[in-house]
Formats: sequence, C-alpha cells, structure tokens
Amino acid sequence: MQIVVDLNRCQGYAQCVFLAPEVFELHGEEALMYEPTVPADQRERVRRAVAACPVQAILSGEQ
Ligand code: F3S
Repeated sequence: MQIVVDLNRCQGYAQCVFLAPEVFELHGEEALMYEPTVPADQRERVRRAVAACPVQAILSGEQ
C-alpha cells in the first residue's frame, strides 16, 4: 500500500496522526511527514486515516 498526501490540501487537522502515529507525524501546525510505503501491519490504521481526513488530503493505492 502506497500513500501520497497532498500537502497543499492538508490543513494540519492531525486525524491521521492520531489514527496512525507510526506512519504520520506532524511537525509544527502544518508540516506533515509520512511514510509513503505503508507497512502491512499499519494498513488498517491508514485506511481509517484516509477516511478521517476532513479535507481528503491522503490518497492511497492498495498493492
Ligand atoms: Fe493533514 Fe488530513 Fe492529516 S488535513 S494532518 S492529512 S488528517
């Protein structure tokens, strides 16, 4: 599973950080860092993060 976060769209709502802290990390209010290749054991958490982002900034491709 690969993810891309549209950082122009991301507003720092941090739902992704709460739901999948091993994949997403927020530095400051809007500087989101993330792991583009999602480990298998994090997929379910990342799916929830994709669904929870209020501005749909996280795009995922299942592999
Ligand atoms: Fe940004 Fe959405 Fe996460 S706005 S910080 S990608 S919940």
